Amino acid sequence: MSAQSAAQGAARACAHPNIALVKYWGKADAAANLPAVASLSITLSDLVSDTQVTFDGAGPDRIVLDDAPASDADAARLTAFLDLFRARAGTQARATVRSSNNFPTAAGLASSASGFAALAVAADAALGLGLTPAELSALARRGSGSAARSVFGGFVAMAGPDEPQDHARELLSAEAWPLHVVIAITSRARKRHASTDGMNLTRDTSPYYPAWLAGQRADMNAALDAVARRDFAALAAVAEHSCLKMHGLMLSARPGLIYWNAATLAGIETVRRLQDAGEDVFFTIDAGPQLKAVCTDGSREAVAAALARTPGVVDVLSVGLGGPARIVADG
Ligand code: PMV
Repeated sequence: MSAQSAAQGAARACAHPNIALVKYWGKADAAANLPAVASLSITLSDLVSDTQVTFDGAGPDRIVLDDAPASDADAARLTAFLDLFRARAGTQARATVRSSNNFPTAAGLASSASGFAALAVAADAALGLGLTPAELSALARRGSGSAARSVFGGFVAMAGPDEPQDHARELLSAEAWPLHVVIAITSRARKRHASTDGMNLTRDTSPYYPAWLAGQRADMNAALDAVARRDFAALAAVAEHSCLKMHGLMLSARPGLIYWNAATLAGIETVRRLQDAGEDVFFTIDAGPQLKAVCTDGSREAVAAALARTPGVVDVLSVGLGGPARIVADG
């Protein structure tokens, strides 16, 4: 397809959010948005960003997110992202983007991860670029670090600065180890701090930042080994450690970044009690107050019931592991 005809193209794609079990926090290169640490995630099923893009005409991009015009800041971020694709296609065509999520923003799931992954896949198809999944992942990373992982399904590793790649890769399909995730929503307040600001503050002010960087390869290796062996207990141990270490790092910034509320902590206690009762479950928490409990099929009902009863938990979502970002239909 020529750049001229491609510039008239349209496509629609969807992608799922992911949650990191070995956490990414910190940038090695701000301009290229390269992470300072490797990370390992699981892609979630059921929750979807659905994104349509059309390249036509001239003028500023038109961007609609969840049926409302994008804020100036979001529009600028998306236009800069679309410019990466336009440069590859040799076109300056204006984009019209419509993107929506079937999950609440208040779920505390990185909708930027699924949103940028879906937009990367849709823009590639609309412009006829024929990029590989690795290339799409590297481009999605430019929009949001964690978006590099949402290009893939199942268990996903994102390369760190000690590796030559600048993209994520699939380790294991969703079907190969079908774990479940129970999301305990502990607050419906919408906004978290922008992750880039939090990462910069942490790097600049936390005395623990060098130790965070130094420990990451060992955590990655432990998690990669646990995933390869489908060893739930080993994955649980390293995932809780990585999560708590990231939050310890955040707490040690000046001023300290505190993402938890009382119900987040109550949720941790619930997971600890479930573990004591023999259930296969562990928790992870990102840059927000929601708690995600990863569990096996056999423990899913007990975990969902216990978290629903936990004081301060306002809702519980139960999902499985999902597949890669993909084209839905021409939009
Ligand atoms: O992709 P970003 O810039 O929103 O950063 C994601 C950071 C965490 O969600 C806290 C951890 C992770 O690895 O996803």
